[in-house]
Amino acid sequence: MPKELNVPSRTLMTPGPVEAHPNVLKAMGSSILGQFDPNFLEIMDEVKEMIKKPFGTKNEQAFAVDGTSRSALEAALIALIDPGDKVLIPAFGRFAYLLGEICERAQAEVKFLEKDWESTFDQNDIIESIKDFQPKIVAMIHGETANGQMQALDKIGAYCQRNHIFLMVDMVATYGGVPIKVDDWGIDVAVAGTQKCVSVPSGMALITYNQRVKDVLDARYQKELGLGDDERSDDPIVSNYLDLSQLQRYWGKERINHHTEATSMVYALHEGLRVILNEGLNNVYVRHDKNNRALVAGIYAMGLEIYGEPTSKMPTVTPVKIPADIDGEKVRELLLNQFGVEIASSFGDLKGKIWRIGNMGYSSRHENVLHVLASLEGALSYYGANINKGEAIKAALDIYNKE
Ligand SMILES: Cc1ncc(COP(=O)(O)O)c(C=O)c1O
Repeated sequence: MPKELNVPSRTLMTPGPVEAHPNVLKAMGSSILGQFDPNFLEIMDEVKEMIKKPFGTKNEQAFAVDGTSRSALEAALIALIDPGDKVLIPAFGRFAYLLGEICERAQAEVKFLEKDWESTFDQNDIIESIKDFQPKIVAMIHGETANGQMQALDKIGAYCQRNHIFLMVDMVATYGGVPIKVDDWGIDVAVAGTQKCVSVPSGMALITYNQRVKDVLDARYQKELGLGDDERSDDPIVSNYLDLSQLQRYWGKERINHHTEATSMVYALHEGLRVILNEGLNNVYVRHDKNNRALVAGIYAMGLEIYGEPTSKMPTVTPVKIPADIDGEKVRELLLNQFGVEIASSFGDLKGKIWRIGNMGYSSRHENVLHVLASLEGALSYYGANINKGEAIKAALDIYNKE
């Protein structure tokens, strides 16, 4: 007989997934509604409006794509790319290469503007590279979870707008955790995820785009045969499932028949967004900032080092250098198996060199910060690391108690 599912509870301090908010889990247990049930359509409309707020946009278009964050990244890029189009990708971490991978498969001519992963770009260097390469699209990452660095974006967007270049930004790891200004920064299309600062399980992605992008989509729209009143395009988007021109009409008043919506995930998203909007976005950002400072103070007080440039460190991710002579994976295993705490390793050259501690969404709570610091200290002491004992919690509490 198959055994009943028995899932252990965890303190999730990775850069995603994070702990789902209890209201989210409760909402997921609600009855299934048909995808065109007026009650469900109302929920979808509310979700559309709520998505816009953390993006800082008044765009007409904002909705969710079924699939993890990369589904909307792919949907956004393939909507704009025709074979041979030039895409510039400034890369200061692993996820920029994911964007490149998507663009290359869509037969774009991709140029990476590369640097080490320890800091972000000076925006002027990106603008110079745009002038040189003359791309149709600039695609980049706001918060690189691989190394915990966050790129300033305010100048690039303005330059792209003036020069009729599309700017696509992955805000998967910053949306709902740090202030984002899609409209003020001149971003044409932005993508976020659910499993990070929105405290919803993985499985959906959020997208918003402006009129310039909508014009491209409208020109490429192709209605599926068999639905009646055929509308064909000379240049349809290469994917059916990730076709934003159809998804827009599925979430919009046309309500065309596309996929069968993942209703429980839409409930979850509704609650995840409602919870952060009710808390107040500013309060949400202040909470993330304070927990970030407490975590960082605790890490330094323990005598550990943080990877990368401090001034551009993401508040939602802290990359901690693994001390010499310590096996980072053994520490992670001990944390998980004995303390019920999960932190993450990293990718590429950083694998085995840093741990990544998340500070996102419902996991961004002061008890979680104290728990991860205390258990990391315990695990490192157990493996004989040379750290300052008893200092980390004191440093974190100083921040919590004195502010
Ligand atoms: C910055 C960034 N972009 C994209 C992704 C891909 O997201 P997903 O795994 O939800 O497809 C991640 C995942 O961690 C990420 O951190």
